[in-house]
Amino acid sequence: MTSVYGPATNWATDFDHADPEYNKNIHKIWDDLKTSGCPIAHTDRYGGAWLPLTYEMVHEISYDTTHFSSRSPVVGQLKPSEIPDAVPAPVGGVPPISSDPPFHAGARHLLLPIFAPKKIDPLNSVIREFCHKLIDDMGDKEFVDGAVEYAQNIPVMVVAHLLGFPLEDADQFRVWIRSALEDVGEAREQRETDQLALADYINKHIDQRIENPGDDLISYLLNAEMEGEKLSREHVFGTVALALIAGIDTTWSALGSSLLHLANNSVDRRRLVENPSMIAQAIEEFLRAYAPVTMARLVTEDMDFHGVQMKKEDWVLLPFPAANRDEKEFPNAATVDIDREINRHTAFGLGIHRCIGSNLARLELNVAIEVFLERFPDFEQDTKEEVKWSLGQVRGPRKLPLRIVTRT
Ligand code: HEM
Repeated sequence: MTSVYGPATNWATDFDHADPEYNKNIHKIWDDLKTSGCPIAHTDRYGGAWLPLTYEMVHEISYDTTHFSSRSPVVGQLKPSEIPDAVPAPVGGVPPISSDPPFHAGARHLLLPIFAPKKIDPLNSVIREFCHKLIDDMGDKEFVDGAVEYAQNIPVMVVAHLLGFPLEDADQFRVWIRSALEDVGEAREQRETDQLALADYINKHIDQRIENPGDDLISYLLNAEMEGEKLSREHVFGTVALALIAGIDTTWSALGSSLLHLANNSVDRRRLVENPSMIAQAIEEFLRAYAPVTMARLVTEDMDFHGVQMKKEDWVLLPFPAANRDEKEFPNAATVDIDREINRHTAFGLGIHRCIGSNLARLELNVAIEVFLERFPDFEQDTKEEVKWSLGQVRGPRKLPLRIVTRT
């Protein structure tokens, strides 16, 4: 499929984050923009969008919920005001990520127990066993796809477990996630059909949990209260959709980029094989250097922002990955240094929307990398095949050709 906008013609004035060249060449594009004196790129596509590139600006926007609304965190061809049944601010379609104050605080607070260490830590052994099974399933092949055969499966299993969804539906989840996050520049009809199918699927599960409550996130939400009131059906639905979308593509992308780094950096790989206790710190550096998630905001009123004239309802992309590569904040930002000690990276966001799933994501990344290195102490990128990058706001390898050199 191809974008309705065609290829981007100029990264400063006609950028398109869903153009296949963007995620593939992202670091060069940002560097070129910055050295040419363009810290904020613009495009007329998607009804008008901005891309600020410095840590300072990403920080400022994240904390300014008055001028920058989270109502629609994924850039689309239509603004929420152009979609007749869009859930209005401050709730938005996928709370709490789409919610603004004051509603946001309550919607976020009620999710905290679900992602607390007490709930998350017991998943360690489940994830570990699953990772070993994925590797067992690869048999003794010399060439494997680290994205398709490994990275993409782990977060799907975890989120299906969290929501009480059957793992057999995993392929379907990935189709819907791709449609929601990657196909933003394509003809709207297919995306709308996918959204309806996803809605039917979630609604079917909500109805089942009303009949037969279980020990899962849907049943928890159906029981939860905010300010003494049960949550609306819309709210339950939106949070379930968010968990499915936010919990899968993100972790899969971070894991894929980390494996790609290890495939191409034998010194780092050997150090982690010999000292698995270093993996946690290395993951923080991979999260900094290859942060997968860029979110979006909507400008709430016409304003001057660092010399550019933003208009009400313009999109603003919030590239946490670019903030992580700002030299002013991270010395030698372009160097991936697994010994980096001071590393207050922004991969999980900044401000009120900072990722609730970060403990879970870290656990998945730690276990998945530990098991991969244990089973495949030596592997490299298979350069005969190309790495295929995702499109849009979540960046990670969707095809990751690897050659396994040694296995245990
Ligand atoms: C490496 C993996 C992950 C990364 C890099 C990541 C990144 C982010 C970022 C940047 C935000 C901030 C959004 C904003 O400012 O608009 C966010 C929010 C959020 N994430 Fe994650 N995420 C990851 C994994 C997960 C997982 C596994 C889950 C749950 C299953 C999750 C659930 C959420 C939720 C619910 C929010 C919204 C919080 C709020 O609005 O208060 N994330 N994530």
